[in-house]
Amino acid sequence: MTIKIGFQYEGTVIIPTMKKGKGFEFVGNSLKQVCHKTLNEAISFFNYSSKKDEMLFFRKLNMKILSISIPENYSVEDLRKIYAKANTYLKSLGEKKVFVTFPKESEEIIKGVVEGLSLSNYKFDKYLSKSVDSLDEDFEIDFNLDCDLKYKELIEETLKVCENVKYVRDLVNENASVVSPEYLAKEVSEFSKKFGLKTNILGEKELEKLGMNLILAVGKGSSRKPRLICVEYLGDKNNLEKIALVGKGITFDTGGLNLKPTGFIEDMKCDMGGAATAFGTFKSCVELGVKKNIVLVMSCAENSIGKDSYIPGDVIKSYSGKTVEIKNTDAEGRLVLADAISYVQDKYKVSKIIDMATLTGACLIALGPTLIASLGNEPKMLDGIFKSGEEEFEQCWNLPIYDEHRDLLESKIADFTNLGGRFGGTSSAGAFLEKFVCKNVKWVHLDLAGAAYSKKSKEYIPEFGTGRGVRLLVNFLKNN
Ligand code: BES
Ligand code: ZN
Ligand code: ZN
Repeated sequence: MTIKIGFQYEGTVIIPTMKKGKGFEFVGNSLKQVCHKTLNEAISFFNYSSKKDEMLFFRKLNMKILSISIPENYSVEDLRKIYAKANTYLKSLGEKKVFVTFPKESEEIIKGVVEGLSLSNYKFDKYLSKSVDSLDEDFEIDFNLDCDLKYKELIEETLKVCENVKYVRDLVNENASVVSPEYLAKEVSEFSKKFGLKTNILGEKELEKLGMNLILAVGKGSSRKPRLICVEYLGDKNNLEKIALVGKGITFDTGGLNLKPTGFIEDMKCDMGGAATAFGTFKSCVELGVKKNIVLVMSCAENSIGKDSYIPGDVIKSYSGKTVEIKNTDAEGRLVLADAISYVQDKYKVSKIIDMATLTGACLIALGPTLIASLGNEPKMLDGIFKSGEEEFEQCWNLPIYDEHRDLLESKIADFTNLGGRFGGTSSAGAFLEKFVCKNVKWVHLDLAGAAYSKKSKEYIPEFGTGRGVRLLVNFLKNN
């Protein structure tokens, strides 16, 4: 698929309409003159009245038109969805060239429409054997956008971010037997090399030397060994401030010896979603040349079951020196994050941290299947993230960390345990991470347990890996 600014309407033209009284009106300026009469005639013939979700494809003279219905007081999210549906529909018709008109020319509207078109053009079908029929579907639509040239850069940037959202989806959707810690390290290395960024990838030996026993413990049961993947990007060399993006990269979460039962284990290749989101965000910022100093840290291990698996009841000393009683080997995400958070503060002297993780099932219970839970120690950062979430429609909701939650982690034989119990699980997981955040470091934790993958496809979000979080965080890093 290509999406670029175009000047002549070839192929099919997408024209937004809006309900007005008993009839409808065109919205947007361009083509109004040309199409007004043609469209009106056709529309009265087809009985189109721009009802909610209505679309009408027709040919008139030598034109092909798809009119799409836009609600009064539409939001950018309405446009993402409506243009996504138009894309899916035109693809099903086999249309190959499409001219896109907008209800209004503004940055946010053009960005939203481009996102709707690009993000709905995604399929994870590499493991489907191709039938002869499906070969017909192997084509890409060329979109020409009807807007001023001054939006060129915005469109190109939006497309880059969307490509990275789809890359994150691919990483989450790919077999867990393929996407190992080592595989992720290779992906990051290849990217970093292209941009001349220095990578610092810690394997088993280095982790042992440094005493990063939490991440090592989690990875012990698997033959696919852990990696702590770090890359630094200095987009603002005159500034001392550095922000870390830390992602949970459990390439498969069996639960360990506290094995997950059937019904809970099946989707657990999604459990590197946090690391993938952090990488997708970082990659976008580098490609866009965002003026920020950013350190990417992906804490990767496979939480497997085997003769060497770490054992419930064991007390393990973390990289920070604090000891943790393992009450449940399925609460592994916080363990790999804890060592990563300590290390990035130590080695890279960051002043801010955003960590992201598919951390707790409790997040889904609290906030439903798509929302991101945000927790942390810095109201201003949390506010900024909330606002970016609203703008990108990747919404967050703050959850608290109170002493009630901290108290849940008490242990008699270690500094604390890794298990806070069933109630308020997202907050007690946050309370655990908080113990590893240094004073004066501003920190936000994002629980993506619901957001990172989806059980059913929506307009521009496919089933399984969603890539949610990338657009939010790119928005946040650009604007804060
Ligand atoms: N990876 C899971 C959390 C998860 C659940 C992600 C559902 C996506 C969908 C995490 O490692 C986990 O197992 N958490 C436990 C924590 C518990 C043992 C304290 C949970 O949520 O049950
Ligand atoms: Zn787990
Ligand atoms: Zn997990």
